[in-house]
Amino acid sequence: MMRRLLLLALAVAVQGDVYMHNPRGSNNRLDEARRDRNNANRLFDSQNNDRGGYNVGSLYYYEGSHLSIEWTNQHSCDNPNNHCELVLQYMCGDLVRDGTTVTTIPVNPMQCQNYDCNRDKRYGMHETYDYHIKCRLRQRNMGLFTADQNLRGQTARFTRQNANGNRRGYECPEERDHYPYWHPTPWKDIAVLTNNPRRCPYYQRESENVKGRYECVVPPEYIMENLQANGRRAIIPNNKVDCEDFRYPTNDRNGTRGIWREMHAHGLPAPECRETEWTRDNHLGNTLGGYPALFNWTIPDLDHENCVLRIRYNISTGDFEGWDPSVNSTNNKAEEGVDVGSRFGLSAQAAEDRGYVYKQNPQVKVFGEFASEGNPEKDFELQLAVNTNQFGRVFQDRSHTFAVRKRPEELSGATIHNVNVRGKRGNIVQVYPAVEYDFVPNTLEVSKGDYVHYQWTGSNTNPENNDGQGKAGTDRSNVVLQGAQVYPEGKGTGYGTKPVNGHWGRSYPMHLSNVTFLGFSKDLMRNLAILDNHQFGGEMSELDDAGTYFDLGPRKVTQSGVFHYMSTRNNNFSNRSQKGRIIVVDQPVKTESVGWNGGNITFNEDAAVVTVPRGTLSGLQKMRLEEWEPEAGEDLLESRQASINVGSDYASNYILISPTDKITQGDKTFKVNMKINSGMSNVAIYHANPDSFTSWSKLNAQISGGVASFQVDRGGLFVARTETSVGLIVGMVMLVVVLVVIIVGTVVYFRKHPDKWDKVKKSAAVARYSTQNKV
Ligand SMILES: *[C@@H]1O[C@H](CO)[C@@H](O)[C@H](O)[C@H]1NC(C)=O
Ligand SMILES: *[C@@H]1O[C@H](CO)[C@@H](O)[C@H](O)[C@H]1NC(C)=O
Ligand SMILES: *[C@@H]1O[C@H](CO)[C@@H](O)[C@H](O)[C@H]1NC(C)=O
Ligand SMILES: *[C@@H]1O[C@H](CO)[C@@H](O)[C@H](O)[C@H]1NC(C)=O
Ligand SMILES: *[C@@H]1O[C@H](CO)[C@@H](O)[C@H](O)[C@H]1NC(C)=O
Ligand SMILES: *[C@@H]1O[C@H](CO)[C@@H](O)[C@H](O)[C@H]1NC(C)=O
Ligand SMILES: *[C@@H]1O[C@H](CO)[C@@H](O)[C@H](O)[C@H]1NC(C)=O
Ligand SMILES: *[C@@H]1O[C@H](CO)[C@@H](O)[C@H](O)[C@H]1NC(C)=O
Repeated sequence: MMRRLLLLALAVAVQGDVYMHNPRGSNNRLDEARRDRNNANRLFDSQNNDRGGYNVGSLYYYEGSHLSIEWTNQHSCDNPNNHCELVLQYMCGDLVRDGTTVTTIPVNPMQCQNYDCNRDKRYGMHETYDYHIKCRLRQRNMGLFTADQNLRGQTARFTRQNANGNRRGYECPEERDHYPYWHPTPWKDIAVLTNNPRRCPYYQRESENVKGRYECVVPPEYIMENLQANGRRAIIPNNKVDCEDFRYPTNDRNGTRGIWREMHAHGLPAPECRETEWTRDNHLGNTLGGYPALFNWTIPDLDHENCVLRIRYNISTGDFEGWDPSVNSTNNKAEEGVDVGSRFGLSAQAAEDRGYVYKQNPQVKVFGEFASEGNPEKDFELQLAVNTNQFGRVFQDRSHTFAVRKRPEELSGATIHNVNVRGKRGNIVQVYPAVEYDFVPNTLEVSKGDYVHYQWTGSNTNPENNDGQGKAGTDRSNVVLQGAQVYPEGKGTGYGTKPVNGHWGRSYPMHLSNVTFLGFSKDLMRNLAILDNHQFGGEMSELDDAGTYFDLGPRKVTQSGVFHYMSTRNNNFSNRSQKGRIIVVDQPVKTESVGWNGGNITFNEDAAVVTVPRGTLSGLQKMRLEEWEPEAGEDLLESRQASINVGSDYASNYILISPTDKITQGDKTFKVNMKINSGMSNVAIYHANPDSFTSWSKLNAQISGGVASFQVDRGGLFVARTETSVGLIVGMVMLVVVLVVIIVGTVVYFRKHPDKWDKVKKSAAVARYSTQNKV
């Protein structure tokens, strides 16, 4: 009974911490009607609150399409309150699956169909059985700092955060807790976001995407024999020396040797790495500006039906330097624990006496001797809530499975934006720490001619009594343009003269007789509104007879403007708002978050490229690149009462880069490559004063092979113009003038002095002399 109470208390104490909202994070949930997930150990160790997670539901994405990965994290990032690292990864595999039962996949093959847990489709599985068994039997890294935690075994199953060696799915706890991990893993890195971007070069160098890992290969019979040992004892060496010393059977010097084998790198580009965005602690909410923390993922060419996405949120205290190599196993013994006291100017003895030591719940004497002199009753001890297994702690969420598909022929080269629905049925309290319905991305900016891919899924088994419209327990959504604004939308929107379609403040849809949405056909708009490609008849006023899944497929955007839309079913003014916005601009546009580690911004290989080297920026910047055709560029100038008054002809499009203020550190610059129209010579690059675009200055640029390349420390408007050389014209005009004067002067002179003309005729040399001197 006491034990059960204790377990209960522990379960409640777990407060948590990273939740993926798009794609839908499972938090280990499958398809469950209860508010709490059934089994926190089903696939992985999240350390999150039981209430998190979305029910199963799958989507597919096209290769190369853009997907907003959105999440919330509770304890802040980009904030001195803690060291925050976010690691985004994916894996695909033929055996990867969501499963059909909430029971954790067994580790004993006897409990699986055909003794093959890898293929027992009832159980959800990400990492494979073999991967897990190796982890269970492999020596753990004995050099790690485990504080005063009492690890109950010597294998990679036992870590500071998992001292009892608990199992969650086939995850490897040592791998879960550490990144970059030192053994082969099935995880491919997408991005690392960190409070300390100076670690980026290290992450990018050490990522398994680019660097292989070694493992000790031992005979499978040996593994089989030791399976039942339940893995407290280390069986597989984790280093070269021990591996090469290994013999099977162990005591026979002639036995099969262990082979220290390199497993190749994944052969992918290094992960993206940049600063985290700012979030505050105890909040589990949006970043500055009111949008959720997100990462723009360009889906790689995976061509696989079974993939999952993983986000880890690693937070550690600033009370000691978790990343410093000197914080290691030598600090595990209490007497040499990590040094806390010296940060407060306390000697080792004083720190010990006053409780400034790193251990479970230390009691500190804040007032020390000052209080005890004459005031002994004030020498009280304050207990700190220090849990050494949680002062550096990793939270995690993973998506349900999704597919990545090859593009059909007709979409090759197109830019595809995924638009999805996040959230689940219920009011804000009922769904927390998941979220209410919303479109993702809530605001999307696209260029005319891009493709938008509307697709979503939901569940039929949300808690029956959760608030919402339509049939209890079900998620459904649709898309219709909102009613027109009845007054002009303020200029504050920043989209200037773009036509605005629909108004965010309306709860009635536009009557669609004369307006289109993104230039879509009536059929497409009908399908988005009443999901009618998916349902033949039935009661659809609140979409109840539609399925949970909807897919419009990628559709071309042919109309520019600002489009405000909503879901008629879920938008309930005082209780829920499900509205989205798409801004369609005529020119190509791209926004990237670039920080200290640098980055590139471009549309494709035929367009302008902005290259920001590592160390150029001191912090995260949203950098935006736009390309305007000459006429459109002139309209842009005109809208700012400006014009182009340099050069004579266009030798390129206009390039607009923001921010337009100086963004680099010190005298650092970044590089811009711009395409020059072919066959143009005498080209110069001009940069407009970013404030007004009125004054143009010429830049030093290198021009060759149809590309102009120059260095700048800020954005602005750039254009290449041909130059008719003023110097050459002036020179030629002067020459003509001089010749005319000479000829006229000579003629006049000899008319006045006919005698001299005779002498001239005698000698050409004299004539030359004469004209040179007298004129
Ligand atoms: C988390 O941070 C610690 C340092 O505090 C580091 O040792 C560990 O490898 C990190 N783990 C992950 C999963 O990022
Ligand atoms: C081990 O190998 C050596 C040399 O190859 C051989 O003489 C010896 O008999 C072997 N021992 C066993 C136990 O097989
Ligand atoms: C472990 O830490 C100690 C000091 O705390 C240091 O002397 C030693 O070099 C460290 N070991 C490694 C492998 O970094
Ligand atoms: C709006 O939502 C609230 C809360 O779920 C509900 O009580 C109310 O009936 C809804 N309004 C309508 C018109 O359905
Ligand atoms: C649509 O019709 C309304 C009402 O008839 C009209 O005011 C509006 O200008 C029309 N919009 C367009 C884009 O034609
Ligand atoms: C709907 O929202 C209102 C205002 O926030 C709240 O008073 C009411 O309880 C909500 N209704 C339900 C059923 O949650
Ligand atoms: C993601 O891309 C969108 C659209 O290009 C952009 O508005 C947004 O700022 C980007 N977000 C980040 C974090 O880079
Ligand atoms: C940017 O482009 C340069 C040159 O093509 C390349 O070397 C570099 O790795 C790229 N950087 C990033 C962050 O993509």
